[in-house]
Amino acid sequence: MEKTNIAIVGLGTVGTGVARLLLDCGDRTARHAGRTMWLRKAVVRDLEKARQRIDLPEGVLTDSLDEVINDPEITVVAQLIGGLEPARSIMLRLMESGKDIVTANKALLAEHGPELFDRARQLGRSIAFEASVAGGIPIIANISQCLSANQLESLEGILNGTSNFIVSQMDEFGTEYAEVVAEAQRLGYAEADPTMDVDGTDAAQKLAILAHLAFGATVDWSTIPRVGIDGLDPVDLRYARQLGYRIKLLAVATLGEEGLELSVAPTLLKIGTPLAEVRNAFNAIRAVGDAVGPVFYHGLGAGQMPTASAVIADLIDTAVGRTKLTFQTLEYFSSENPARAIQRD
Ligand code: NAP
Ligand code: HSE
Repeated sequence: MEKTNIAIVGLGTVGTGVARLLLDCGDRTARHAGRTMWLRKAVVRDLEKARQRIDLPEGVLTDSLDEVINDPEITVVAQLIGGLEPARSIMLRLMESGKDIVTANKALLAEHGPELFDRARQLGRSIAFEASVAGGIPIIANISQCLSANQLESLEGILNGTSNFIVSQMDEFGTEYAEVVAEAQRLGYAEADPTMDVDGTDAAQKLAILAHLAFGATVDWSTIPRVGIDGLDPVDLRYARQLGYRIKLLAVATLGEEGLELSVAPTLLKIGTPLAEVRNAFNAIRAVGDAVGPVFYHGLGAGQMPTASAVIADLIDTAVGRTKLTFQTLEYFSSENPARAIQRD
């Protein structure tokens, strides 16, 4: 059976999950890929650091990125470092050395997407990013491929698992805010800096990525009006419930007569409606297309294994050359594509 050699760069929550799936579910991935998906290197910053236990075969763990860059047999890299630098420079170096990329780093794509995708196009490389939005929900593939016959009219989503976990736990059990934030960190839902989760930044970055795909619009995530859940008082949640509502951090993109309107904000949702019932680290997206009508996606939006599931799907797609999706999206992310979004507060 043919073999695709893979490297993981960044062995944190998601990287460890990806390594586990590659090592433990080889048969499954081989069946879907029609080839062996072989973990050849896992690059960490510090070999001595205590990390989640995982039995990597000898010679896989390294602190040298050059062992990946200089190995022509490694063709696909799961780049799973968070933040902007050195994630950006490493991604550029990897592409320049001939590697296709799979990433979960939405902050990087939202901030440097045009540069990275332009460079990928120049180099004939692909960047797959299913795991960057809504964890295990295949929303990138759905919007880019399955709904491509449609003009999408709107997207409404709960896109940040940490915020949803926090408001759910505060609402249902009256747990203290600080205590739930710490639990979200322990469970691997939160960003390295959880401020990004609770102030709406992460949801805005994900909304910008979805808006690129759904509406062909270049959106600067930082201009999206956003309010996080960090200012919510438990009393707000209690009063909302008494009135028959839950409060959720909702990201919305609506195509109106004047263009695209985008926002991220805590929103009152009627108890019993699908978005109001999305609990804990689950995410959900309601999309409306002119042909398909409303469609609803629901699944775990944060956490090690749901995110690893999306990364593995991208690794397989990349290995077998199903990169049409990513090349289609390259155009949207191109710096040559003029902004078409109108954003309002
Ligand atoms: P994490 O646990 O903080 O892991 C990131 C890892 O990258 C850390 O282990 C860090 O090493 C490593 N790293 C940083 N710089 C490096 C370098 N120069 N060389 C090698 N390794 C380096 O974060 P995570 O939760 O796995 O998230 C990774 C990415 O996936 C982020 O972009 C995040 O936004 C995204 N994501 C996360 C989730 C989730 O549920 N956690 C879901 C979807 C997307 P050290 O351990 O030495 O610091
Ligand atoms: N911190 C992110 C969240 C991880 O809570 O949604 C998934 O992107």
